[in-house]
Amino acid sequence: MDAIKETVNTAIGAITGDKTTAREPSDQQLQQVRAKYEKAGQEQVFAFYDKLSSAEKAALFEQLSDFDPEYINELADKALHPPKTEATESTLEPLSPSATCSVLDSKEEDLKRWYEQGLDLIAENKVAVVLMAGGQGTRLGSSAPKGCYDIGLPSKKSLFQLQGERIAKVEELARKKSGKADVTVPWYVMTSGPTRGPTQKFFEENGYFGLKKENVVIFEQGVLPCISNDGKILLESKSKVAVAPDGNGGLYLALVKSGVVADMGKRGIQHIHAYCVDNCLVKVADPTFIGFSASKNVDIATKVVRKRNAKESVGLILQKNGRPDVVEYSEISAEDAEAKDPNDPELLKFRAANIVNHYYSYSFLESIPQWVKKLPHHVARKKIPYVNTENGETIKPEKPNGIKLEQFVFDCFPFLTLDKFACMEVKREDEFSPLKNAPGTGEDDPDTSKKDIMAQGAKWLQAAGAVIVSENGEGVEVSPLLSYGGEGLEFVKARTIKAPAYIYKLEGEA
Ligand code: UTP
Repeated sequence: MDAIKETVNTAIGAITGDKTTAREPSDQQLQQVRAKYEKAGQEQVFAFYDKLSSAEKAALFEQLSDFDPEYINELADKALHPPKTEATESTLEPLSPSATCSVLDSKEEDLKRWYEQGLDLIAENKVAVVLMAGGQGTRLGSSAPKGCYDIGLPSKKSLFQLQGERIAKVEELARKKSGKADVTVPWYVMTSGPTRGPTQKFFEENGYFGLKKENVVIFEQGVLPCISNDGKILLESKSKVAVAPDGNGGLYLALVKSGVVADMGKRGIQHIHAYCVDNCLVKVADPTFIGFSASKNVDIATKVVRKRNAKESVGLILQKNGRPDVVEYSEISAEDAEAKDPNDPELLKFRAANIVNHYYSYSFLESIPQWVKKLPHHVARKKIPYVNTENGETIKPEKPNGIKLEQFVFDCFPFLTLDKFACMEVKREDEFSPLKNAPGTGEDDPDTSKKDIMAQGAKWLQAAGAVIVSENGEGVEVSPLLSYGGEGLEFVKARTIKAPAYIYKLEGEA
């Protein structure tokens, strides 16, 4: 029997020309994996196995072999029935002033020093960028990865392109400052099963946005099976387990498993900026943030924006029981949410809104294997299409029928002591405008992304002395290749620019 399967596998490989085609397992291999799933009470995943084609059997077997069903049960059980901790009051306090700064009220000389220091570190090739782009972007509703999305700018640039061009520009600024020719900020792009292929293709088709291919590393985070409300692993089709990316906290394991940390080590990287794909205003590899974080000698620093009011539903960065932490808006009492800053009653006491924009020291990323197993999994209740293993029917549920297990990227903050964590408050209108929702939603959607970029461009040009004429309040897009953060626009002084417009080259340039 096994000899026949081997022949079939070889034949499939010969037909497809694919040496990596998954192979149908031997009876013994199948028995071993089946026994594991039976022991874990998850044997329903084999419900249709015997009727599958050889290629389907091979694919399902490979998928099932990648998971440990007992471990999945354990994760699901912990996530669904979190251990009851004693109802001790947790103590919440803002981070101490020595660990925080705000670009809203920092001294000009400090901001300049951090910027220069950050640019020097970039020129020394010690800075890298990590992009989290493994999410499925379900709310936006586009079939392509979110980074490929055209938010409707005059240039039609995608989010990936805006970010890639900001990297190219910051490299150029560092080159100019240092006089060095070889300045590189490697870009590590985390994708997931659903986003890897199309992301890779998009980067190739767009010439890596002018960056060198060898300095753009696309890697993949893990997936976990989707679970029914009663703890059973769901099948998406008769030959495929329903899976979902393991959350943005999957970043840490992926950085190690995919060899990114090792690659950073080889390149001599010391400082890492990590951010989310959906923020169209993100200052990728921001020298000021890098300089600030490096000068504080911390393992992690976060950028935050000011919480708009006591009711805004944002997570807050603070200290909880003496450790850095994030507290979700649903977890904070009304009293804490409304408390005023004792030093300035105009401000909320807890106002550091989390925008998932981080600095990491390289040594912290090197330590991932020591703590990664402690990162908890959270439950996200979702509508998960599945095959009923009793009758083979495919079901598209109308209400949440199961859970996805996700890790959060900020769950490692409490592993640090307060002296290893810092926080920088930045202006929302300058640095944060996420693309979350479908067109027409009116909030965090493609139109608000476009508007915020064009408003920023107009502001930069006005500050450089241009007169913007705008009938409908439309702004001006400024190419990141021309200006990273508003610098280098002196050539527009006293010029009149009719909005909407796209400014992408110096006057007189071809
Ligand atoms: P969100 O939690 O907003 O998810 O991700 P999303 O995929 O963009 O959108 P929805 O919720 O499905 O509508 C915040 C950031 O974390 C990344 C996303 O790509 C985004 O940059 N992320 C999320 C990952 O990299 N991996 C994941 O498993 C989940």
